[in-house]
Amino acid sequence: MALEPKEVGVKDMLKEIAEHPVPKHARSFIFCFGGIAFLLFLVQVVTGIVLAFYYKPTMEGAYQSVMFINNEVFMGKALRSVHNIAANLMLVMVVLHFLRVVFTGAYKPPRQFNWVVGVFLLLLVIMFCFTGYLLPMDQVGYWAAIIGTKILGSIPVVGDQLLLLGQAGSKVTDYTLIRFFIIHIVILPVITIGLLIVHFLMIRKQGISGPL
Ligand code: HEM
Repeated sequence: MALEPKEVGVKDMLKEIAEHPVPKHARSFIFCFGGIAFLLFLVQVVTGIVLAFYYKPTMEGAYQSVMFINNEVFMGKALRSVHNIAANLMLVMVVLHFLRVVFTGAYKPPRQFNWVVGVFLLLLVIMFCFTGYLLPMDQVGYWAAIIGTKILGSIPVVGDQLLLLGQAGSKVTDYTLIRFFIIHIVILPVITIGLLIVHFLMIRKQGISGPL
């Protein structure tokens, strides 16, 4: 008689994850940095969606819209502060997580693939910070856009093309800002979520690395 395959529901899966034992050597705060970085990423998604309701990606309107959030939107100033502080903290946590992985040798085989995924995640977090930094189009944001695109332009051989692509034209305009805004709210989040799924599936598959 053929056995019926046992159905595994979402509840079973969550129970299995919640009850998954953490090895003794991994019950240290240094193993929490990756998890904290993930929680901060979730904070960024939620606060970022609310900010995007009010933000206007034009050279004229961007600064006015963030001032509107500060002064008129309920808890707007707090919302911007949370998004700012969580962005900086996330970068710190990812760097600490990176150092933990280096110092515990967790990058070695069989985890070399997850290490490479991690390097891309680190680059993505840096790109999130850079593209978010210039969105308010205050003095700092404006000059960050100029300097950032000029750096692209100074890359040998492909510099001119990259400058044109980054600026969306021959100088920084509304189109440049729209480009950075789309990178910040669509392209980077989609790639990050995809890589995080791979990162976590690999950790589930391989387990956490052993003690030193
Ligand atoms: C958005 C950024 C990232 C998030 C949210 C994240 C999240 C996590 C989490 C929750 C773990 C489980 C263990 C722990 O927290 O220490 C982990 C493990 C790991 N991460 Fe990340 N990570 C990120 C970026 C990175 C970076 C930048 C690297 C290295 C270049 C990296 C490489 C690894 C490796 C190799 C493991 C397996 C560690 C082991 O088995 O001991 N991750 N990550």
